[in-house]
Amino acid sequence: MSAGLTTGSGEGRRFQFERPGATRDPVGACLAGALPGIGDRVLSARQLSAASSALAGRPELWEHLVPARRDQRWHALLHRRDNYDAWLLAWDPDHETDWHDHGGSSGSFAVAAGRLVEHFRRPRRGVAGSRSVRAGGAVTFGPSHVHNVTHGAGTPALSVHVYSPALVAMTYYERTDYGFSAFETVAVGSPHGRRSRVVAEGSGLTDRDTQAIDDLLAASRRDLQRRPVPREALQAVGDGAVLVDLRPAEERALDGEIPGAVVIGRNVLEWRLDPQSAHRIPELACYDAEVILVCSDGYASSLAAATLRRLGLRRATDLDGGYHAWKAAGLPTTAGSADPGS
Ligand SMILES: [Fe+2]
Repeated sequence: MSAGLTTGSGEGRRFQFERPGATRDPVGACLAGALPGIGDRVLSARQLSAASSALAGRPELWEHLVPARRDQRWHALLHRRDNYDAWLLAWDPDHETDWHDHGGSSGSFAVAAGRLVEHFRRPRRGVAGSRSVRAGGAVTFGPSHVHNVTHGAGTPALSVHVYSPALVAMTYYERTDYGFSAFETVAVGSPHGRRSRVVAEGSGLTDRDTQAIDDLLAASRRDLQRRPVPREALQAVGDGAVLVDLRPAEERALDGEIPGAVVIGRNVLEWRLDPQSAHRIPELACYDAEVILVCSDGYASSLAAATLRRLGLRRATDLDGGYHAWKAAGLPTTAGSADPGS
C-alpha cells in the first residue's frame, strides 16, 4: 500500500517570488501575518493551526510549484526557521506516509485541495483512531503524536504542513499485536522523512542508513553545545546538576551504577522530564534543570538529551563517553556483578 520512497523533488527549494515591487518572501510574510510577534518561540497548537491554514488558503503563493505530473510522492519546503518550518505536499491515490512521529515537534496540517485521512495512535490505549480532513480543514497534534496520513478517495490532494520546532528527525513504527513498535529513526529531509529503508540483500543496511544516524547524532550534539567529560560532570553534580542513568537494569546490575544518579528508563524519559507532562517528576522536570544523561558509551544519551532540549530543557546534555568513561576515570561507582570479587 505504501507509495514508496520520496525522491525529494522540490526538497530544499525555498519559494522566492520575484515580482517587481512585491515582497521577496511572500510565504514568510504570510506566516509572519499568521504568527504576529512569534520571534524565536515554539508555536502553540493554535498558532500551528493558524499558520498551516493561512498558507493553505493562499494557493497563489505556492501552486506554481506543484508539478502537473507526479510519478512519486512530492513535497516542497516552503519556509524554514529553527522554531518552525512549512511544507507543501501533494497526494495521489494510494499515497501514504507510513506510521511515524515527528521527533518531538508538534505540528498541524491543513488540506488545501482534495481529502486526506489521518490514522493516529490514541494516547494510553495504543490503538488507532482516524479522522477525515477535507479541503479547508486542519488538524493539530502534539510532540508525541504518531500517525499515518493517507490520500482520501477522489481527486489528488494538496496539504500544507507546519512543524514546531522545525523537523529534525522522525521515527517510524510498525503496528504489532503488542501495539506500535518503533523500528527506524531517520534524519529528516522532508515530512516524509529521509527514508532510506532500502532493505536489499545481505544485512539490509545501506550506506544511507549509516549516514542517516551519523547525521542525526552529529545534529544532536551540535544542539547540546557542551558535553561534560566525567570529571566535569562530577564537578557539575557538586554544583547542583543531576545525573540521569538511562541504562537498562541488566546493564546496571552487570556493570554497576553511579551513586546518586537518578534512574529513568529511556522509554519514559520525555514523559518524566517534560515540565508540561502529567507524568513528570516534579523535582526534575524544570526548564532550567541541569540534567546530564548517562548511557553506556555516550551515544544514545546524546540523542535523548537533544530531545529534552527540544522540550525546553535548555541545559540538558549528556556524559561524554557514558558510564564506561566515568568508570574508567576512577570515579565513584557501586559494584556490579561483572566487577572482580563481586
Ligand atoms: Fe506526520
